[in-house]
Amino acid sequence: MPKAKSAYLCQSCGHSSPKWLGQCPDCGEWNTLVEEVVRASVGGKAVERIAIQAPDILSVQSLDARREPTGIPALDAVLGGGLVPGSVVLVGGEPGIGKSTLLTQVAAAMAHEGEVVLYISGEESPSQVRMRAERIGALSENFRLATSTDLEEALGILRGTEPRVAIVDSIQTMSSSELEGGAGGVSQVRHCASVLHAFAKEAGIAMFVVGHVTKDGSLAGPKVLEHLVDCVLVFEGEGFGRLRTIRAAKNRFGSVDELAVFEMTESGLSEVENPSQLLLAERQAGAPGSCVFAAMEGRRAVLLEVQALVSPNYTQSPRRTVTGLDFNRVLLTLGVLEKRGGVRLAGQDVFVSVVGGLTVREPAADLAVLLAVASAAKGAALPEDLVVFGEVGLTGEIRSVGSVEARLKEAARMGFRRAATSRTGKQDYSQPGVTVGGLRNIADALSLVSE
Ligand code: TYD
Ligand code: MG
Repeated sequence: MPKAKSAYLCQSCGHSSPKWLGQCPDCGEWNTLVEEVVRASVGGKAVERIAIQAPDILSVQSLDARREPTGIPALDAVLGGGLVPGSVVLVGGEPGIGKSTLLTQVAAAMAHEGEVVLYISGEESPSQVRMRAERIGALSENFRLATSTDLEEALGILRGTEPRVAIVDSIQTMSSSELEGGAGGVSQVRHCASVLHAFAKEAGIAMFVVGHVTKDGSLAGPKVLEHLVDCVLVFEGEGFGRLRTIRAAKNRFGSVDELAVFEMTESGLSEVENPSQLLLAERQAGAPGSCVFAAMEGRRAVLLEVQALVSPNYTQSPRRTVTGLDFNRVLLTLGVLEKRGGVRLAGQDVFVSVVGGLTVREPAADLAVLLAVASAAKGAALPEDLVVFGEVGLTGEIRSVGSVEARLKEAARMGFRRAATSRTGKQDYSQPGVTVGGLRNIADALSLVSE
């Protein structure tokens, strides 16, 4: 066995340094370097002079032929059409979001189809896992359950059980006795993930690995894990809301465009077929400070309500609170609204949020933010049957965004009669039942807020 030596490893990106440093030189995080025992690498073997002929591409089997459904169609779509044998899918999310629930449901559905599914839990006792499985209706003979935190033991269970699909919950609880560092450290996490990946590949089984995210939203040792797996699924949702979304942050076997929307119910996660309806269910139409935004979540259009509250602040430092949107983009939009639109926000607290716990990352939300805040500031409502989408430029121009047709279709489907977007973006599109208004600048946009 090679000689053990120690190094300081960044817990965020895996950067290795021979001495302790306050800040990681690679990712810039502070106080993330922790001493861990690492093994010296084995010297490379001399390559012999041999000739190998590569096969032609036509003789290679396509992955699609071998994909297996998980029993949860929305999850299959995010995966790119089902599970690929021999691959590892990392499921990341905050504690309590529903990772174990989702994977128990997958195990149940696949076991029901006659596949042997192995669930290795390092977090909960067998009876805790059974309790969850009972709640979900997942009890079946093909659902095999083991609890272990020891990598070598887990491999033994995998070899002995020979499952079609394995679930390891979670990677942070696994550790190998070959390494000295504790479970959850970068070198353990990296080692366990790569050993499991190698096993999955060799045995030709699909494997789900749960990974907890750290406070700042990244997977513990994110870069370390992400390049070791084939697919990274990100599980998100507001703590108290029922809505949960899953998207692929990386996918070797498909696109990263699909989004799955689930609702946490008494008996596990159930797919939400019509997210717009759920998200707009409690909207108070005609209330100042509310604006409906036609967003693109992956390849599908979803209507979301952007809400704003503007209230006087008598201290020196008014607050800006933003939920579900990019903070800096909202500040920028507020700046443009004040400077180019003449809406005074000095001395006012401004709160902006997206209802329902979804997070919007696209600049197309600017116009909805602008109108929600303007409507709140003026105390005047926007038309009830209006949806908007568009980017706001620094000079106050409204800029066009993509997927206009999909957004308009969704608006029409949900019964909205009017849409407002950039004048250039409007031209080539029309949707039966929806009148599209083209806006050039902030002044045009503000005319939608009735006085
Ligand atoms: P869990 O899946 O254990 O989260 P994670 O593995 O990501 O930490 O559970 C998520 C939460 O969901 C937990 O607080 C209990 C709740 N829950 C339900 O509401 N309904 C259910 O059917 C189940 C199994 C859990
Ligand atoms: Mg769990």
